[in-house]
Amino acid sequence: MKVIEAKDYQDMSKLAADYIIRKVSHSPKIKLGLATGGTPLGIYANLIADHQKNGTSYQGVTTFNLDEYIGLSGTDPNSYRYYMNHNLFDHIDVQKQNTFVPRGNADDIEKECIDYEKLIKNHGGIDLQILGIGSNGHIGFNEPGTSFDTETHVVQLTASTRQANARYFNSLEEVPTKAITMGIASIMRSKEILLLISGEKKTEALNRLLSGNVDENFPASVLKRHPYVTIIADKAAIADLKVNS
Ligand code: PGA
Repeated sequence: MKVIEAKDYQDMSKLAADYIIRKVSHSPKIKLGLATGGTPLGIYANLIADHQKNGTSYQGVTTFNLDEYIGLSGTDPNSYRYYMNHNLFDHIDVQKQNTFVPRGNADDIEKECIDYEKLIKNHGGIDLQILGIGSNGHIGFNEPGTSFDTETHVVQLTASTRQANARYFNSLEEVPTKAITMGIASIMRSKEILLLISGEKKTEALNRLLSGNVDENFPASVLKRHPYVTIIADKAAIADLKVNS
């Protein structure tokens, strides 16, 4: 795993966006794996600014998001479909029909999982997957203890993940208890992975990722087995690391 140190959140976002823009310019039909949460917001803002200023085109790009809450429709402001439309897709020239997010309100959720995995495979797989990391090491919504063999599946969210995401909802009770997520095996099949880590809250996770063992109790550790992972971490995430280690 290659680690790039960014000065701060803005710098991390710019470096990651520039990385993605280079890939899209070089491969206009690239299949991108996308993430939600607080971390990638700055990247998406940079992609939009670049699209407006330099005209980088996403017309041939296909996107697959990592996960979605079960029970929320795509028009619910807390759904990840809404997040993606609002924070990226509505502001660039990607074709909406080529943007995929699992449907959290599908009638048959198990079938939705199987179909989503097939969809990714039928498109030839993901070329570049953008990832964040939870403080507990989760990637996507794959919580500690998830088998490394999993494909897209239904998960029960842990109390700590629901707590961490409660900031977007009116109350903790409103945070869904289940989600659909690409599995660890699905993520590992991406040809390349770009992992973003920002802030002191993530230092422990970064520390464990860099110096710990590969262990299903810390899902992100599986990335050590992937041949092509780049981590962009800001100083806040790295600074304490030096103090702790
Ligand atoms: P965050 O979430 O970007 O909101 O910190 C990352 C994650 O939980 O994967």
